[in-house]
Amino acid sequence: MPPRELISAATIAGRVAELGAEIDRRLPAGPLTVVGVLRGAFMFMADLVRAIPREMTCDFLGVRSYGDATVSSGVVEITSDLGAPIAGRHVLLVEDIADTGLTLGYLLDLLRARGPASLHTCVLLAKPAYRHSGAPLDFVGFDAPDAYVVGYGLDAAQLYRNLPGIYALE
Ligand code: IMP
Repeated sequence: MPPRELISAATIAGRVAELGAEIDRRLPAGPLTVVGVLRGAFMFMADLVRAIPREMTCDFLGVRSYGDATVSSGVVEITSDLGAPIAGRHVLLVEDIADTGLTLGYLLDLLRARGPASLHTCVLLAKPAYRHSGAPLDFVGFDAPDAYVVGYGLDAAQLYRNLPGIYALE
């Protein structure tokens, strides 16, 4: 069965524009380092940075949390580290989706230990579980259902990342 559309590309574009303006308004003044979590956040980050009218650098963290399964393994592995130090920088961590919040919590600890001037998080989608996890989310695009979702960068076994909207796998 083909995936069922939950959020259209046009709705995402509208929300990303709002998020960019909100981030610019709320983050401390000064240049930013925007850190995208690969691979799922690549498309969201590409659109989001164009909606934040500020001087910034872009960097990426490679992370593997699920392997090719659709159930969390509970293990976060860094497959590729940042290209530059973040000490003294205002950092915005950009993630595709928070489910248990485990990945985000782990990455926040990792980045905080490097002494950024400030550290904020932005996720495109948040599943219900994150509300019980205590993971601090500063900016959330949409609440997601407790289903496996794909598209707009998110995959199932590396497929569907190129879909322009968000879809539920039936
Ligand atoms: P968490 O650590 O349980 O919050 O899971 C976060 C990571 O799992 C995300 O960065 C995604 O890579 C992956 N993930 C969780 N739920 C989904 C989903 O519905 N679709 C695709 N990837 C997901």
